[in-house]
Amino acid sequence: MAESDDSLALAAEGARNENTLRFLKSGARGLYIGGRFVPSLSGKTFETINPANERRLAMVAEGGEADIDAAVAAARKAFDHGPWPRMRPADRAKVLYRLADIVQAHTEELAELDTLDSGLMISVTRPAAQGIPDALREAASWANKVQGETYPTGTDHFSFSLREPVGVCGIIIPWNGPAVLAARKPAIALACGNTVIVKPAEQTPLSALRLAELISEAGFPEGVINIVTGFGLGAGSALANHPGVDAMSFTGSAAVGQEIVRGSAINFKKVMLELGGKSPHVIFADADLERAVPNAALGVFRNHGQMCFAGSRILVQREIYPEFAAALAKFAADMKVASPWDPDAKIGPLVSAAQFERVTGYIDLGVREGARLSAGGRLDGGKGYYVRPTVFSDVENRMRIAQEEIFGPVASLIPFDTEEEAVAKGNDTVYGLGAGIWTRDVGRAIRMSRQLRAGHVWINGYGLRNEMAPFGGFKHSGIGREGGKYSVEFYSEMKSVFISV
Ligand code: NAI
Ligand code: MG
Repeated sequence: MAESDDSLALAAEGARNENTLRFLKSGARGLYIGGRFVPSLSGKTFETINPANERRLAMVAEGGEADIDAAVAAARKAFDHGPWPRMRPADRAKVLYRLADIVQAHTEELAELDTLDSGLMISVTRPAAQGIPDALREAASWANKVQGETYPTGTDHFSFSLREPVGVCGIIIPWNGPAVLAARKPAIALACGNTVIVKPAEQTPLSALRLAELISEAGFPEGVINIVTGFGLGAGSALANHPGVDAMSFTGSAAVGQEIVRGSAINFKKVMLELGGKSPHVIFADADLERAVPNAALGVFRNHGQMCFAGSRILVQREIYPEFAAALAKFAADMKVASPWDPDAKIGPLVSAAQFERVTGYIDLGVREGARLSAGGRLDGGKGYYVRPTVFSDVENRMRIAQEEIFGPVASLIPFDTEEEAVAKGNDTVYGLGAGIWTRDVGRAIRMSRQLRAGHVWINGYGLRNEMAPFGGFKHSGIGREGGKYSVEFYSEMKSVFISV
């Protein structure tokens, strides 16, 4: 269904790229299954809205169980009988390189679609989209590194292992980096020779569907990549529970992560989970405060707080606590809350009405729990799901605002006295995704990084990434690791071969 030009112009305010507008107007936003765009079998569609103005951007096909069955059948056929897993690795890489080149010419519209659909700022979505081609090339470069080993033996036999693709991979992604996740998560799976079904988040389906159009030009054999839009309960749960899916990679909430694990039991799927966090960011008195304050602020406020590894618990050593708290509150108060198209904006709208309710609910809860509101709070009136960057000080670690993932621009400041106390408080959470440390004492930085139970530790620079380093979490933050060879390990199975000599 196409929107009228007038209502679309209002909904898509800010977007400039011709292809963005053409795509929104096209009205042909079906599911991508077996190399073709098809409507959902039920004929159902759902709306996706722009969280900056609460207007409808488009209707997209609502995939359900029957569509997932069709997508799994297409992916199974492509895996079990098609050329993709069997072709020379260099030829698979070539298709991914071609996709990278195609995407490179269209990053601006992917960025614009993400800003429209998610409310993430164009200053964030643009560089993110511009990074996709290199991420695809990086994934392509793994195609010929899916290697086995030989094992020392006596003279009676020879033994070696083969690393083979795991099969049909289900990939469920969230809304806090829609285009990047839709492109990057499947890329190494594909390089390894798997076939995939991607289920984008219902809040942000548009960039994945535009990506599907680009994918359709790249020359993948049919059924190798399938993209099924729809809801979590529906397309998502059908994929997670499907006996024809060999591996599931999921990024999202811990609660849904548990559903994915349950769904895996039916046929012992391999599971990789990248879940949430309540990551501690520990600031010692000897820190370089000029850098630590903005880094701690952006560590939690970037992406409007909608980050799995948001450093949402800021632990500050008592001697500098008053000074740090005041500086952080001022930094937050100075961040411009505005349209995601405004080049000076630092905070745009949250993704949806549900997230707005959830986050503002936590702000109210923090006040009820007795924390001190030092900056931010609800923004009243006006359209769009805007929440100001909010700082709670004098938070106790047992409070719910210090224990539960808020996923919005809300920081909890917690004082501590000693290194031991910082470790104890830092680890006092069910999560274990990230941890930050600010100190000039190298020994302390190393002691802390050993003791904090988290998948990533950042010393004097929160949020640094390296595609080759393992990405993932301890405890309720997930299972498994992504990145480089760790992704190759997940998206492959080992087979031992023995030959009698
Ligand atoms: P969610 O975990 O429900 O959604 C993420 C993805 O999972 C979406 O594609 C959704 O359709 C799918 N999904 C939902 N229920 C499913 C099910 N039963 N089976 C299979 N797939 C399912 O996250 P939601 O509701 O959008 O956000 C709620 C909270 O989750 C956030 O406030 C935040 O705390 C956390 N979250 C964490 C993310 C991360 O990057 N770790 C990303 C998004 C949300
Ligand atoms: Mg949307």
